[in-house]
Amino acid sequence: MILLTGATGFIGERVLQKLSENNLSVRCLVRKPVNFGKQGVSHIIGDVLDYDSLARATEGINTVYYFIHMMGKQDEQERFDVLDRRAITNMVKACKVNGVKRIIHLTGMSNPEEKLSHHLASRKEVEEIIKNSGIDYTIFRASVIIGREGAAFELLDTAVRKFPVIPVMDWQNTKVQPVYIGDVIRYLVECLDKQETINKCYDIGCPDVFTYKELMQEYAKELGLKRIFVPVPGSWRRLSAYVLGKLAPVDANVAYWLIESLHNNMLAEPNDLDRIFGFEPLSFNESIRKIKEGGQCYMP
Ligand SMILES: NC(=O)c1ccc[n+]([C@@H]2O[C@H](COP(=O)([O-])OP(=O)(O)OC[C@H]3O[C@@H](n4cnc5c(N)ncnc54)[C@H](OP(=O)(O)O)[C@@H]3O)[C@@H](O)[C@H]2O)c1
Repeated sequence: MILLTGATGFIGERVLQKLSENNLSVRCLVRKPVNFGKQGVSHIIGDVLDYDSLARATEGINTVYYFIHMMGKQDEQERFDVLDRRAITNMVKACKVNGVKRIIHLTGMSNPEEKLSHHLASRKEVEEIIKNSGIDYTIFRASVIIGREGAAFELLDTAVRKFPVIPVMDWQNTKVQPVYIGDVIRYLVECLDKQETINKCYDIGCPDVFTYKELMQEYAKELGLKRIFVPVPGSWRRLSAYVLGKLAPVDANVAYWLIESLHNNMLAEPNDLDRIFGFEPLSFNESIRKIKEGGQCYMP
């Protein structure tokens, strides 16, 4: 049986849909009762910050999908890294006690040569804890995931749709390689049967590399919107997060930490995923068209 964490989130919800379509038995760890209404899907109430609940949730589990981050916590904002560390340490301990065979995880892409933002440094730490746990793992790393309800994509969408004149700050030339949500879900679900992905980490990205300014320009073009970009010195993180937090369907705290991460380049290291999975990720423009059509993995 599979234990899915983050089943109510952007990634977990879509992975659950695929796992259920594939007739796999899934137990979802949730903080509040949810009726998923799917054959073979059950839920267990728990919290990754509560070890005892994880010890119960991992009983009889073969594979854990770990899709948790704590950036949205409002009471201990500066300390989401502490919470994320505690959460994954709890999970690893529970997995070991109950003999879980594998952890599958999605995290943020980062360049080991750069000083990482708080968010990416914390993501890296969680990744390292999984890798050093002694439990088999498969880890995928992504940058901006192109899909409705994805926090980074919703910020991009809001900035481009709502502002005819877009201020571009000191992150405008940072490079990024986004990836389509449908491709991310395929990697996460199809890796279950691919033994060669065990104990491997993969960067996943579309074939295109953009600066953040180019990404917004390209997105505006896809939407048929004329936009003027005005360079503004500085990073204006708090103001940007405040404004976007009001306009976008994204928590302002999450927006703040994601904006801080705009200074880190997110470029995928080459890998052999095309050979292993038998498909190539969609281009950015194809991804946007899929979203516009309400294509695969779109959820309103
Ligand atoms: N979105 C992206 O563009 C993106 C890009 C790269 C990597 N990733 C990675 O993908 C993973 C999943 O991100 P996401 O975008 O799906 O996040 P998300 O939409 O914010 O979902 C987070 C999930 O975590 C659950 N959760 C939070 N705190 C919890 C706790 N204490 N105990 C149990 N569950 C808890 C939430 O449940 P509740 O409903 O109870 O709050 C929710 O289901 C993360 O590791 C993230 O770094 C995402």
